[in-house]
Formats: sequence, structure tokens, C-alpha cells
Amino acid sequence: MKTVPRLTTPRLVLRAPGERDILAWFARASDIESASLAGDPVADDISAGARWLALARQRLADGRAIKWSIDQPGVADAIGTITLSFGANEAKAAALGFVLGRAHWGQGLASEAAREVVRYAFETLALEQVTAEAAARNIASLRILAKLGFKHVGSFIDESDGEQCERFVLDARIGPLVLANQA
Ligand SMILES: CC(C)(COP(=O)(O)OP(=O)(O)OC[C@H]1O[C@@H](n2cnc3c(N)ncnc32)[C@H](O)[C@@H]1OP(=O)(O)O)[C@@H](O)C(=O)NCCC(=O)NCCS
Repeated sequence: MKTVPRLTTPRLVLRAPGERDILAWFARASDIESASLAGDPVADDISAGARWLALARQRLADGRAIKWSIDQPGVADAIGTITLSFGANEAKAAALGFVLGRAHWGQGLASEAAREVVRYAFETLALEQVTAEAAARNIASLRILAKLGFKHVGSFIDESDGEQCERFVLDARIGPLVLANQA
């Protein structure tokens, strides 16, 4: 996979990240609550944006991840990102992650993007498993994963911040059935 596939949902367009996304990335990445919920470091300098984009492109080129910028037609900047990350030893599995800018929370948009990316993971990439991790206090993420049929498989403490996190798995026997029922 050397290019980011363009995906569409009723309200969203998912496409390759670019230079024009750096400002919106910085707004998200410097939001302390959002970064803490996602378990990400808080960005304090927009110069990190160029590294963020270079890393996304490098990981795509290496086959380690596909990161999409999420556009909502009518909204000037990308509203967030969603990512599938591939583990070195798990050719048929990927980890799902998503972040939206605060102004776009609470409208069902992350659910919509996640549904489409999970569909892509099973139908196009033919993955056997999609995994996800979320902080135990991240109610919105836990709810999104539950709606998609992810199964809770364990808990752990994130050593970087002491946060209790939950681990989830959706496998190819269940995921497509859940998606078909929601179509
Ligand atoms: C997590 C995040 C992407 C969710 O985005 P969103 O578009 O607001 O999510 P959605 O609206 O699609 O769905 C959220 C669900 O959680 C529910 N929810 C959110 N907060 C809730 C709360 N405090 N109590 C109960 N339910 C809650 C919503 O009602 C919705 O469920 P529903 O569809 O059954 O009504 C967004 O909050 C975010 O970017 N957070 C910071 C980064 C982050 O945490 N990323 C995930 C890392 S695992």
C-alpha cells in the first residue's frame, strides 16, 4: 500500500494527509484533554507538524500504517484523523486509532469514520483482526468500539502516564456481520 485510499461516508471524506492539515493537527495535538484521552504527548510547537506528516508518509511507505485526514464537506480544515497501524509480526492485523478536533465531538462523526475504516480493513485489506486500545475513562471511545462489535480482551496500565487502559479485538468472523447489520 503506497497511497492512501480515498474513502467516503454519508458525511465525510477520508483522504491522504498533507501540508494543509498541519494547522488543524496542531490544534488537536496541543489540546491537553484530547491528548491525555488519546495517550498522546501534548504538542507545544507547530514545527512538530512537519514531523507528524513526514512520519505518516514514512509509515505508509514502509507498510506500517495508513493514516487518513477526515474532511467534512463545508468545513474548511480537516476535522481529525483516523489510522490503521500494522504490527511487525501480525501481517493480518491492524490497530485502529482516531482523534477529532474538539469542535466536532458529539455528532457521531468518529463512529461514522471508524465504521468505514473497519469495513475497509476487512473487505479490502482482508485483515483477520482489528485491535484497539482506549483509556478506561475514555467513554466516547469505549462506546464507539462497543457499537462496532469490538470485544474487550484485557486491561493494562500505560507505563508512560499510569493510565488504566482497555484492550479490544474485532475479528473477521464478527466485524463484517456487525457492519452489515448497521448498513
Ligand atoms: C473519541 C472521539 C474521537 C469521539 O468522537 P465523537 O465523534 O465525539 O464520537 P461519536 O459522536 O461518534 O460517538 C461517541 C459515543 O460515545 C457516547 N458518549 C460520549 N461521551 C459520553 C459520556 N460521557 N457518557 C456516555 N456516553 C458518551 C456518545 O453518546 C456516542 O454514543 P452514541 O452514538 O451511542 O450516542 C473524540 O472524543 C476525540 O477525538 N477524543 C480525543 C482523542 C481520543 O480520545 N481518541 C481516541 C483514542 S482511543
